[in-house]
Amino acid sequence: MMAKKPIAPADIAKLTKPKAKIELTRLRLEIEGHNAAYYQKDAPKISDAEYDALRRRLEEIEQKFPDLVSASSPTQTVGAAPARGFAKVQHAVPMLSLGNAFADEDVTEFVERVQRFLKLDAVPAIVAEPKIDGLSLSLRYEHGELVRAATRGDGFTGEDVTANVRTIKDIPNTLKGKAIPAACELRGEVYMLKQDFLALNRRQEEAGDTVFANPRNSAAGSLRQKDVAITASRPLRFFAYAWGEMSDYPMKEPTQHKMLQWLGHAGFVVNPEITQCHSVEDALAFYRRIGEQRASLPYDIDGVVYKVDRLDYQERLGFVSRSPRWAIAHKFAAEQATTVLEKIDIQVGRTGAMTPVARLQPVTVGGVVVQNATLHNEDYIKGLGNDGAPLRDGVDIREGDTVVVQRAGDVIPQIVSVVMEKRPASAKPYHFPHKCPVCGSHAVREEGEAVWRCTGALICPAQAVERLKHFVSRLAFDIDGLGEKQIELFHERGWVQEPADIFTLKARNAELKIEQLEGYGETSVRNLFAAIDARRTIELHRLIFALGIRHVGEGNAKLLARHYGTLDAFLDAMRAAADAQTEEGNTSEAYQDLDNIGGIGDVVAEAVVEFFAETRNRAALDALLAELTEVLPAEKVKRDTAVAGKTVVFTGSLSKFTRDEAKAAAERLGAKVAGSVSKKTDYVVAGEDAGSKLTKAKDLGVAVLTEDEWLALIGG
Ligand code: IVH
Repeated sequence: MMAKKPIAPADIAKLTKPKAKIELTRLRLEIEGHNAAYYQKDAPKISDAEYDALRRRLEEIEQKFPDLVSASSPTQTVGAAPARGFAKVQHAVPMLSLGNAFADEDVTEFVERVQRFLKLDAVPAIVAEPKIDGLSLSLRYEHGELVRAATRGDGFTGEDVTANVRTIKDIPNTLKGKAIPAACELRGEVYMLKQDFLALNRRQEEAGDTVFANPRNSAAGSLRQKDVAITASRPLRFFAYAWGEMSDYPMKEPTQHKMLQWLGHAGFVVNPEITQCHSVEDALAFYRRIGEQRASLPYDIDGVVYKVDRLDYQERLGFVSRSPRWAIAHKFAAEQATTVLEKIDIQVGRTGAMTPVARLQPVTVGGVVVQNATLHNEDYIKGLGNDGAPLRDGVDIREGDTVVVQRAGDVIPQIVSVVMEKRPASAKPYHFPHKCPVCGSHAVREEGEAVWRCTGALICPAQAVERLKHFVSRLAFDIDGLGEKQIELFHERGWVQEPADIFTLKARNAELKIEQLEGYGETSVRNLFAAIDARRTIELHRLIFALGIRHVGEGNAKLLARHYGTLDAFLDAMRAAADAQTEEGNTSEAYQDLDNIGGIGDVVAEAVVEFFAETRNRAALDALLAELTEVLPAEKVKRDTAVAGKTVVFTGSLSKFTRDEAKAAAERLGAKVAGSVSKKTDYVVAGEDAGSKLTKAKDLGVAVLTEDEWLALIGG
């Protein structure tokens, strides 16, 4: 393939003002695009050096024409470019790229070129590998120990991501086996499984965090995190397929396939599809087979890489410019198509997140009919950008638009761009609904979040199952014999739609006949009703927690219960605050009082008030309360005990009390119970087989108590 010859930029000294103006605009847009690609999408399109050259040229032109410096220039934007965070690493052997083949003939030509170069009559053995669509990584091992991990960067200098890489399970810290070279750079691709990517995006979307456009961006964004704990929490994987520096080879007469085997023995994961071929036909058959499997493979691939197997041949073949002569990438055809976006629908997730979906005129993209594409959230539709999203900033998406659709590596179809020339004159900007399309409750978008959420926690059918599961969970109503499975079953049958329905099951059973369900009998149904009846008396904090109000977990539910003391006081205050709720805020005394509770911030206070502002939530709560016998007031916290104000961590298996009992007792006595040990921890109560928390406590010099010592401290 011929490289495109760059057009030399005009000499700045000879630039006229009108030309300078045009070039400045072009440079600004180009730099902004690269900033977005680098910072938001984790997909830089040019090297740091090329980027710096663009900025330098812009600055030089601005120096010559100071009156052309616009407020939007990258030189004027304060703090626009955060430091490009990671330390630089020089690769001992550069990480080059591959030449591309698109048609079968290109592959034939590649093999013929190799034969001509090596003066071979027969086709040499070729290894065909799926081209993994992730990001390449170079891992330096010295005496078998991982010492440095670096991204590809511009091929010569990458970024030091050692700490991040140590969290990836597929990458060994120590190489296994005997024939370990003194120094070696082992290479391959970091990627994310499609299913892991989808699950991660769902979590991100629910939490209003960055949604990634495809598994590749998701892998890149997850790897390049300053906070290594974030990388550790992401499902990153790695296939090894290449190497750079090798102080010596671990075998005689090394070949690509032997090296792959060795990488496998050394502790890496090697792609199981890799096949040795002995003719062009073999290689093309592999390409077609893997192309057919593409959609069903658990990870994204964007082609096939053919490599001459023998390393002595590879060495003789060497490189042309920045690609090896001994390998080529056979790409799959682009999976894009143009179609009309007929309608934007809103889907409501199980926790109330409202996700817009594009309904498209059916179109075939890469052999699959596509009718829907995700639009992520309101900002994405407005074209305001979204990490990893492929849309250009500022271009909004409208019903009636002609759009370019792409199957993002076979996962979720998405809209890459809008064909502006085809936008109908009548197309109107899309207004994101402020009401839930499923239940009609009002929706809210919290500050700093991208997601709109339905507030109808107790009544929205889209959320019902999740809410009901939460309602019966251990820290909420905790009803014996009524777990997630039973909730799903009862909901599916239409027997339980909202919490109050649980308490009317008994009265309705003449009609429902639960005992006739598979797995049930007279006794188990009697037991179930007894367990439900037992919960007609419930502690206030459990009731508050059970409502499933956003941001109100167990801890906040307890804070609220202790502050208001009784159900009546709590409800009166919430109704007063909710009735005073306006778009501009809430100045009621009840709201201020809520907002001022220690540990309850604005975000929680607003979520609580939003819940009570939805009158149908109140109706559902009233219906529930009508079924309950008593809501027990919160126990007043004792302030004058030995552990009041102290932070305690329970660890190991406890024999004198359960974890929940220990926690409840400690909290009643004014202590705070934490889940992890830090410098702020006052006591760690360690049972049998306590592990890392105990070690950490000892390291930090935190007081460690046995169960008996703890009981003595709190007075038995
Ligand atoms: S070999 C000298 N093998 O494709 C080049 N690369 O365009 C050595 N890639 O940056 C690369 N799967 O990120 C090779 N089985 C595979 C690959 C592969 C994916 C990527 C890699 C590289 C790019 C080359």
